Amino acid sequence: MKQELQKYREEIAVIDEEILRLIKKRLNIAREVGELKRREKLGVVDYRAEAIVLDRAERIALREGLDPHLARRLASILIEEAVNIQGQRPKNRARYLYSVFEKAEAVESLGRRLIRLDVGEPDIAAPPAVKNALRDSLYDSERIGYVSSKGLPELRMAIADLLNQRYGTQLSEDQVLVTPGGKFAVFAAVLAMVAQGDRAVVPEPTWPVYGNAVRLAGGREDCLHTRFEDGWSIDLGKLHDMCRVRPRILVLCSPNNPTGKIFDEKLLREAASTVAAVDGYVLTDEVYESYSSTPTKSILEVADSNFIYVNTFSKRYGMTGWRVGYAVSDAETINRMQSVLQLSVTCVPEFIQRAALEALKMDQAIFNQYTHEMLSRVNQACEELDRLPLEYVRPDGGMYLYPRARGEGFDSEAFTHRLIEEKGVVVTPGAAFGDYPEHFRISLGTNIEEIRRGIGAIGESLNTWSKE
Ligand SMILES: Cc1ncc(COP(=O)(O)O)c(C=O)c1O
Repeated sequence: MKQELQKYREEIAVIDEEILRLIKKRLNIAREVGELKRREKLGVVDYRAEAIVLDRAERIALREGLDPHLARRLASILIEEAVNIQGQRPKNRARYLYSVFEKAEAVESLGRRLIRLDVGEPDIAAPPAVKNALRDSLYDSERIGYVSSKGLPELRMAIADLLNQRYGTQLSEDQVLVTPGGKFAVFAAVLAMVAQGDRAVVPEPTWPVYGNAVRLAGGREDCLHTRFEDGWSIDLGKLHDMCRVRPRILVLCSPNNPTGKIFDEKLLREAASTVAAVDGYVLTDEVYESYSSTPTKSILEVADSNFIYVNTFSKRYGMTGWRVGYAVSDAETINRMQSVLQLSVTCVPEFIQRAALEALKMDQAIFNQYTHEMLSRVNQACEELDRLPLEYVRPDGGMYLYPRARGEGFDSEAFTHRLIEEKGVVVTPGAAFGDYPEHFRISLGTNIEEIRRGIGAIGESLNTWSKE
């Protein structure tokens, strides 16, 4: 028995060596292909070629009686290595966010007051009734215990009712998951959908969290570059091409952080059906839905299946620090996402959920004041920006502006660092959101006087910058 085991282990060792030698050979060829692409000025990523490799792996697996998913995953890892070798390393956009954030915190800790146009947090507060609901829930209970990972049934029902009213849908409570903030809903969605080797299409400019979550899950983020010149719209032809490799998810953030773009019904419909055709899901992040002058189209209105919708209490109700958000999808996907909560935070605390429920029970018109405030900030900030040597696409919604400096070679990372040192104003460099080194993001989370002063200082800095 021992001898037999030893014999098998030796056989496996020989096979492993053979596999690794073949992988080395494959990577050497990939390097040559990279050289060729460079010489011919071709892009590194070729979705058509990648789809051929993945589909072939699956076909061979079926022929050989091997699990086709395993074959696809292995082929995907080989492709990723080849792409890395050819010089397309995964981007760490968050680096740009944190370098500015850390610098600002360090300067503030020395006692200097800064104008923070970097933080994506509106300065609005939850109404007293919401705070009272939290206090009552906390003090009226003898003890605070665990509750369902999915969320309180009353709250899930209230969320479903609200969305059904707003969008004319027929959602039921088992399609709703309560999460600790919208960010966790995104995280749970990614973990539920993306396994090692899986792909996710993320249009850029993008909030960096999606791509980082995809990489954490072992997946690959395929960036769909959108352009200022096209008003940040998504090229559906490009999306079609990217769907050849059958991504598990397409992420759409609308209103968008950082551009403020709202995707219209046609785009939502076509994007959702393109992804559903390859069994993928569209993950829509609609957390800024209330910061818009007209009702934004939701994925809930255009897709019956293959979607995950994310929203939060942070922005509409001024409850950022409370950490409560939600996701909506089919019941099966919600169950998979629920297990991410079960494994990590267990549940959103009951008193927070009771407060969120109170926010939903209130007359929703009360919260329109936040919408008006944000729209007024956008208008006034745009007036200020119009005086500067900047160009920008006027945002459809959201709470950000994403301008770029006129002229060639503007380095927004160096500019943002200098802006902190010389003017005490903090903005976020464009590269935090993708391949946009000449842009920067201005957050309108603070009061309009600060925003005006901040933009004025940006103008002064730009003037001296352009003279150097
Ligand atoms: C695009 C986007 N999605 C989601 C969130 C998450 O918000 P929260 O986790 O507070 O709900 C943010 C926060 O800034 C965001 O910008």
